[in-house]
Amino acid sequence: MSKIELVRGSVVEMEVDAIVNAANSSLLGGGGVDGAIHRAAGPKLLEECRTLNGCDTGDAKITKAYNIKNAKYIIHTVGPVYSGSKEDAILLASCYTKSLDLALENGCSSIAFPGISTGVYGYPIDEAAKVSLDAINKWIDNHPAADINVYLCCFRHREMAAYEDILR
Ligand code: AR6
Repeated sequence: MSKIELVRGSVVEMEVDAIVNAANSSLLGGGGVDGAIHRAAGPKLLEECRTLNGCDTGDAKITKAYNIKNAKYIIHTVGPVYSGSKEDAILLASCYTKSLDLALENGCSSIAFPGISTGVYGYPIDEAAKVSLDAINKWIDNHPAADINVYLCCFRHREMAAYEDILR
């Protein structure tokens, strides 16, 4: 059975099979965690990303982790830019579900997520925490044979507090 754990810190430091990147649809890098991942992984990551033809919002694509030696893969997912519409939650949930699907398909037993869309893309943290936990819990229920440690990495204290409020 898979399980969820909250961690304070950056996904980049996590010893896991897959680190999830909060990317944009070009997959060619950016600021926030995307910038931190590309800096740590080195230029070969951008080279592989160029071959992927981008990624739709709510979808995910996998690459190698290159110079990030504490992980095997990077799963790049594109969260929604928060708009306040119902579509936001559907797309955000899909980011988590598709990333977990890719992790399972690639034999990963651990995955570390940042708070997708909760930075530059402006998704309110409390809402995002609820959508993310719901999506991951549903995925775990739907994949009873999977055994994946799912780490939710809280780069800011505020993110940790949002998850804790729900789990408490
Ligand atoms: N290291 C680790 N985690 C970080 C860092 C960092 N340096 N910076 C932010 N986070 P964000 P988004 C956490 O803004 O909202 C990029 O330009 C942050 O606390 O990186 O999905 C992309 O190219 C939060 O938990 O992503 C896109 O254009 C999480 O990372 C756009 O930003 C996501 O915040 C994506 O926006």
